[in-house]
Amino acid sequence: MLTLADPQLIYLIMAGAGPLFFPDTPQRSYRSSSISSVSQQSSRVKSNSLNLSNSVLQSRHRHKSHGYGENARILEKGRGAEIDNLPPSNTAPTGHKPKVPSGDYMATPFAFRHGRRYLRDPSIIYPLPVDLVELHRQSLRTLLLMNVFGAPFCSTLFDDQPPKKVLEVACGTAFWSSACHNYFKREGHANISFTGLDIAPLAPDLRRHGVHWRFIQHDLRKPPLPFEDEEFDFIFVKDTSFCRTNPLTELMRYLKPGGVIEVWESDILIRCILPYASKIPEAAEEDVDQAKETATYIITSETGFAHAQNSYLHDFNSWAKKAFDKLKITTTPCAIMSVVSKESSLYGEIGSQRVAVPFGEVRWEREGIGEEFVEKKEENDSKRPDRQYASEIRESRVSHKRLTKDQAALRRTALTTVIGLIESLEPILMVESGMKQDEWDRWWAGLNTDLLENEGTLNGECLEIGAWWARKK
Ligand SMILES: C[S@@+](CC[C@H](N)C(=O)[O-])C[C@H]1O[C@@H](n2cnc3c(N)ncnc32)[C@H](O)[C@@H]1O
Repeated sequence: MLTLADPQLIYLIMAGAGPLFFPDTPQRSYRSSSISSVSQQSSRVKSNSLNLSNSVLQSRHRHKSHGYGENARILEKGRGAEIDNLPPSNTAPTGHKPKVPSGDYMATPFAFRHGRRYLRDPSIIYPLPVDLVELHRQSLRTLLLMNVFGAPFCSTLFDDQPPKKVLEVACGTAFWSSACHNYFKREGHANISFTGLDIAPLAPDLRRHGVHWRFIQHDLRKPPLPFEDEEFDFIFVKDTSFCRTNPLTELMRYLKPGGVIEVWESDILIRCILPYASKIPEAAEEDVDQAKETATYIITSETGFAHAQNSYLHDFNSWAKKAFDKLKITTTPCAIMSVVSKESSLYGEIGSQRVAVPFGEVRWEREGIGEEFVEKKEENDSKRPDRQYASEIRESRVSHKRLTKDQAALRRTALTTVIGLIESLEPILMVESGMKQDEWDRWWAGLNTDLLENEGTLNGECLEIGAWWARKK
């Protein structure tokens, strides 16, 4: 069985077999094994992070594509291919005119800036690179969220009947589609059709991996989308806040009545989670179990947060806020997602979930703050219905003064994906920081050391993730 840490998989990716085609998808009934798969990658993740840090120090000197063009060509022969061979503009010899691509941004969607591959259309203002490093980070984030939520979707609306036609919007590598296919296949539903839509051909041809798959290259800002009305019974949307478009209303048109739309997001700004101070969160039993197993925290309106205490993450927050405000991109999509999306009269049943994933062991977990609260509660009111839950919490909090390997791996993965995001946002963050490149490089090296080696997130700095779903009336 391949995992993200498997050298064979890395080889397959580099050979153009597709990005992170990951056959071992979290399955609600197989949660422990899915967590293990992240655990197995933890040591790799650690070394990857360190490698990332080394690589960014050299980023100004990178002259080559990250080699991802091969995957784009698999599906869309010719598209994206020629652009991979273009020299980055900052390295073109004086007097030599670089090959200027046509104005057709769909046919030649990529350009090189800052030594990395980006979407070329200047009107998109999509701030992330679209090279192997960033796509790999996004797939790792998807895998992380699937492990935290316990499955590739949170909605329970497919418990009785699986969907027939699924659309993944802004699919990127389509890692989610491939994982979701595996999830349903293991439940005996191998013939569900998956469609991925993205402005650029970044996904491999999943048909080569047995998925009933098609890719559509289309700009979400340009409705109508090339689909029949009510064509799909499941639409999945992850991390589209970076696209500066809110496609939800338009997407509902392509969803069958009774079909489900599900949206996943992660907040950009980092905060510290505080210990559950007064109330055990009210949530579905299954979600509480899942949170306990993964040592993550369900966020409710009662959950307390403080500003990031880590000085590097504090810096990142202030620069990211400024940069994203200018781009008119929200830095807290999870917080606003459920509020905004409740507005439509098209939605029937609605659900949502928010979870905090600390980046490592937290001081108050170590010191047993939760334990103290739980014990007092038990002494004072031992007949309360939450007694059993409280004692379980105590068990997990007290006995997990050391996290299990799986839980530590999840947290390390959350941290890795945030560090990777900071790396990917380097050009716009550097502008806001006012730093010169050498100053930035020193800051970046300090951040890596502090977060990865010096337990810089003991105060509870965490990744906040959210899922929202609804059935169409
Ligand atoms: C943050 S990535 C998320 C990719 C994927 N959903 C995931 O979570 O791995 C956003 C994706 O949106 C795509 N994108 C950006 N602007 C777009 C637009 N206007 N129309 C369609 N796709 C767009 C990008 O190419 C990128 O693949």
